[in-house]
Amino acid sequence: MKPTVYICRQMPEDVVAPLRDQYEVRMWESASEAVPRDVLMKEAASADALWTVISDQIDEEILDAAAELKLIVNMAVGYNNIDVKAANARGIIVTNTPDVLTETTADLAFALLMATARDLIGAENTLREGRWTSWEPLGFTGTDVYGATLGIVGMGRIGEAVMRRAKGFDMDVLYHNRSRKSEMEDMYGCRYAELSDLLASSDFVLILVPFNEETKGMIGEKELAQMKESGILINVARGGIVDEDALFDALRTKKIHAAGLDVFETEPVPLDHPLLTLPNLTVLPHIGSATVKTRKAMMKRNVEALQAFARGEEPNHQVQG
Ligand code: DGY
Repeated sequence: MKPTVYICRQMPEDVVAPLRDQYEVRMWESASEAVPRDVLMKEAASADALWTVISDQIDEEILDAAAELKLIVNMAVGYNNIDVKAANARGIIVTNTPDVLTETTADLAFALLMATARDLIGAENTLREGRWTSWEPLGFTGTDVYGATLGIVGMGRIGEAVMRRAKGFDMDVLYHNRSRKSEMEDMYGCRYAELSDLLASSDFVLILVPFNEETKGMIGEKELAQMKESGILINVARGGIVDEDALFDALRTKKIHAAGLDVFETEPVPLDHPLLTLPNLTVLPHIGSATVKTRKAMMKRNVEALQAFARGEEPNHQVQG
């Protein structure tokens, strides 16, 4: 009998087809709606492997129900949607999809930074809504990116990729990370800074740390108060890293100039969320890795991990809790 894989989101048939030799493939038949928890629970109960996306919360309750489960392939580099420690304790392997999304996510981080700096979306809306009356000496004016100071919080692969882009804009780059990256300092001339110094000295603060117990609420009232009044905060990592109530207050009272968010504590962000009332906030629906090429490469990583496992090999890109 073939093992069963349950795919928690509809994937293209050409991606799934190669798995059918080795697996009984079952799949949630919607690409745009998340699998409901009760369906996930029921499917997990008889699955040998699960293919998850970031909206699938795999916690102890699901793991307890999943008696046969041996492998979870998560289609993301971040894996905070999975209780990896609890999975590993049950002998379940968890894999993610690093590297293939690095440049795409760095592109988006830089695009959001630029869009926020120049309020591109606000300017477009003004035009589309017929409110563009004339060229104005100080109309539509934003913040310069070229030559500004960028503070990167979390200097991993994506941080390095953003830094390469920033160098093309002659930006001075500060970074804060758990460990110093001397090689990068030598190669790119970036400088390590304590978080408070980075916040106080940067024109743009870019959040790129993974979401975990240590980084939850890492940017709150105190940290936002340490930023420049002209400072701009960009978050493309996970919503819970920035305290949304504190960010709302900081933006509303102009303690910081603007923010750009690709991620939220709750996704999709509720339309009545107070943050969405603010004009100095640019928002995107978690699209960091969203290009066809990259999403296909992430799918391929998951297929490869499943195939390796079915052959009795150790899948690549395993993560530990
Ligand atoms: C990731 O890979 O962690 C992204 O946030 C999902 O695209």
